Amino acid sequence: MALNRNHVAMFALVAVSCFVVGCSARADENERGADLYRLCAACHGESAAGYEAVGAPAIAGLPQWYLEAQLKQFRDGTRGTHFDDIMGMRMRPMARMLMRDGDVEAVSAHVAAMPVARPAPSLTGGDADNGKAIYTATCVACHGADGVGNQGMLGAAPLNHSSDWYLFRQVENFRAGVRGARAGDQGGALMRPMVLQLADEQAIKDVVAYIMTLAN
Ligand code: HEC
Ligand code: HEC
Repeated sequence: MALNRNHVAMFALVAVSCFVVGCSARADENERGADLYRLCAACHGESAAGYEAVGAPAIAGLPQWYLEAQLKQFRDGTRGTHFDDIMGMRMRPMARMLMRDGDVEAVSAHVAAMPVARPAPSLTGGDADNGKAIYTATCVACHGADGVGNQGMLGAAPLNHSSDWYLFRQVENFRAGVRGARAGDQGGALMRPMVLQLADEQAIKDVVAYIMTLAN
């Protein structure tokens, strides 16, 4: 059977739709995740250990549920839209590039499978002993004694993967309502009153110094 004009049109259509949907239906999720991660590496680094100069935290080895939840929050604007959230606004357009069904899951699976790459502490002046007392009284119920987080507690974040400068900034963000104050942010609503109990900047430094002693 000779190729007629309809066949040619059909090939063209297949080629175009393959381009648009990326032929990814055939590629497996791992490849898709690794491909997507190339977009992230510019800020989070090849090994996802973070890059302080651009404010991007270490994310390697975070659990899949937490990664998916945060990417969705950035995508739907629960996170990264407050006018003082300069760092969140850097991240939000990236999450919005994960447009296709399965993208969030694929890139999260890729990052979750990377070995934890937690940077050494860089903040000074924190008293980990005092921080332990604060953590045990105020944070442990949701984040756990070992800081692994709790998905069932409205997605309480794992804290034992992150850099101290990032943890410090997030606590300040929650306190200031830059994160966690948007209507409908149930996890944020749970978290904010807790960190509002911290007396001052020194108390934040202390609790973060203690969190940095938790193993991952
Ligand atoms: C332009 C730089 C940039 C790129 C590219 C980027 N990010 Fe981010 N990302 C950030 C910054 C900055 C933050 C910290 C936001 C904050 O402080 O609230 C962040 C935060 C995150 C967080 C939240 C971590 C936590 O502990 O809550 C996740 C998850 C994340 N990024 C995943 C990704 C993924 C996956 C990609 C690729 C699809 C990506 N990022 C691409 C800059 C970037
Ligand atoms: C009542 C439960 C609860 C308590 C108690 C609590 N948190 Fe949280 N915390 C959460 C939830 C839920 C989230 C995730 C919010 C979200 O999805 O944005 C969170 C997120 C965080 C984050 C962000 C981590 C990241 O990777 O971006 C930090 C840092 C944090 N909490 C520190 C603390 C500290 C320090 C204390 C004690 C002073 C504390 N939390 C007490 C529930 C709690």
